[in-house]
Amino acid sequence: MTIFDDLDHIVAEARNALAAAVDADAVDRLRHELLGRSGRLTALMHQLGSVPAGERPALGQRANEVRRELEVALADRLTELQSSDLERRLATETVDMSGPGRPVPIGHLHPVQTLMRDLREIFHSFGFEVFEGPEVETEEYNFELLNIPPDHPARDLWDTLFVAEPGSVEAGKPEPAKDGTILRTHTSPVQVRAMLALDAPIRVLTPGRCFRYEAVDASHGFEFFQVEGLVVDRDTSLADLKGMLEEISRALYGEGTRTRFRPGYYPFTEPSVAFDIGCLVCGGDGCPACGRSGWMTILGAGMIHPIVLRNGGFDPDEFQGYAFGMGPDRMTMLRHGIGDIRLFFSADARFTSQFPAGR
Ligand code: PHE
Repeated sequence: MTIFDDLDHIVAEARNALAAAVDADAVDRLRHELLGRSGRLTALMHQLGSVPAGERPALGQRANEVRRELEVALADRLTELQSSDLERRLATETVDMSGPGRPVPIGHLHPVQTLMRDLREIFHSFGFEVFEGPEVETEEYNFELLNIPPDHPARDLWDTLFVAEPGSVEAGKPEPAKDGTILRTHTSPVQVRAMLALDAPIRVLTPGRCFRYEAVDASHGFEFFQVEGLVVDRDTSLADLKGMLEEISRALYGEGTRTRFRPGYYPFTEPSVAFDIGCLVCGGDGCPACGRSGWMTILGAGMIHPIVLRNGGFDPDEFQGYAFGMGPDRMTMLRHGIGDIRLFFSADARFTSQFPAGR
């Protein structure tokens, strides 16, 4: 037998073996046996040296043909097996379309957002619309225009997070931005923005995120929400403010809710008040949640200071107004009996999924 015969033999044998191969793995094993580094074709080529020099070119050419033939045959068989495998699976496997689906976990609103939406709805029925301002503010809006001059001790009421002067952090000497950019410490700057943007009568609600340089504990976050209400009109009085807040606390906490006004202080309202409701936990007897007083403070409020009205473009001899600032985080804690504000920022589904209400 010549090497030529051997080559023909390999091809014939390979075709039989391929026809008998039952799956892709078998085809792969054959590929190794035939064309691999220690495969049969390679072994034959090593014998090329023992062939008379004149026959070598023809033999080399034939060997290359054989390699190509084998490659094509292997590939064809593989395709064949794969498509018949697919056909078999299509014929035998079924999907039960009527079976129950896998549950898709659907999120819901954060309990603080739910409360803020409830506030919007209640205030909407009193004729308030939503007016939003920026979270990154200027000292001018956050303080100056609200009658809190630079160096006024009242600034200490709002521990401020300053935006750094560009380059000062890199230089190792962080200092507040010279243009007065800060993170707003309350939503009250939106009072002035709303007054400058709208004509009287104004009735707006200004929900939003606020930031303070606070040591975080169970009742303080460095990030929290406020919802501010602002009314500007002719002939508005403290009696209107009182009536409005009483109506709203009954809408929020129920008809029988007791309410109380106390004197307060804010530079941008005069007079200023603190507004309390009867403790939701103990009903007024006194408990740890209300510091044993029977009352819970839910907001600060007051008649808009004439200077602030003027900064907003209104003549205080003609227009008056009132404003109130609510803390929806605290209100949500009261609503659900949650003892630690940090849970709101925990991003822990085990916590939030306990409050599935909210659309
Ligand atoms: N901005 C005040 C605060 O953050 C709350 C407030 C709002 C008081 C509006 C009066 C009127 O403490």
